[in-house]
Amino acid sequence: MGAEIIDGRAAAKELRTELATRVSSLAAETGVTPHLLAVLVGEDPASAIYVRNKQRACEQAGIQSTLRRLPAETSQSELLDLVAQANEDHSIHGILVQLPLPSQIDEQAVLDAVSPAKDVDGFHPHNVGLIVQGRPRFMPCTPRGVQHLLLRHGVETSGAHAVVLGRSEIVGKPMAMLLMQKGPGGDATVTVCHSRTRNLADITRTADILIAAIGTPHFVTADMVQPGAVVIDVGTNRTDDGLTGDVDFAAVSQVASAITPVPGGVGPMTIAMLLENTLTAARLSASGS
Ligand code: GUN
Repeated sequence: MGAEIIDGRAAAKELRTELATRVSSLAAETGVTPHLLAVLVGEDPASAIYVRNKQRACEQAGIQSTLRRLPAETSQSELLDLVAQANEDHSIHGILVQLPLPSQIDEQAVLDAVSPAKDVDGFHPHNVGLIVQGRPRFMPCTPRGVQHLLLRHGVETSGAHAVVLGRSEIVGKPMAMLLMQKGPGGDATVTVCHSRTRNLADITRTADILIAAIGTPHFVTADMVQPGAVVIDVGTNRTDDGLTGDVDFAAVSQVASAITPVPGGVGPMTIAMLLENTLTAARLSASGS
């Protein structure tokens, strides 16, 4: 029997329509239109596509977006200057510095420099700390998108064993935090696996919910999945065959009860959550907090 497909495009569309309404209500009530600044350094084609998609989604939701493109040889201090200016600019509510950055720039130094009140990626240590403490201001976009899909699909996380493959700052670590938090979409028993984990397949086979975020095409095979498990594929690997996930979709969909496709699963949700965070940033700014 084939797994149910968890449709991220449909979920994201629904969310973006709802966000557009909330954006116009905010504008009507306060005169504030949310404004996102996206910063793209260098010519990485994948990053350029991601940023373009984010900008297009902003426009459709009534959120203003500005793109600053900087050359690949931009220095760290030039980028830090731009971030400092954007922090001071009251017309900008959200700042997104697209990763990865060229090797001469210390990514963490740049992410640390973004004002926590405008950090719509949720990468600043202040915002990470709030997530760890269970009182988030900005939800990290990809993990929140995954959680939203689980909720929308009626997947019971409470008491479930959720196994997260990957320990990145962007996905793995914050994903584990959201799943273990108290409340809807949380209360899971979480295991985080990574490149040094022993007997990986023995652990993944005990997962009720398996979330793959390792960046290796087709890493998760059918024998690693418990029959009936829910499988979420966060992978976006560009191969000669196009965009592909971390999960061997054809084989795993014969074992799982539900699964996200790539493309059309988690990716669109990440963008929807970025819009949500930009709206939150604008709302906080309008209320003076
Ligand atoms: N590069 C890949 N994913 C992301 C993301 O979620 N935010 C930013 N800023 N860069 C990324």
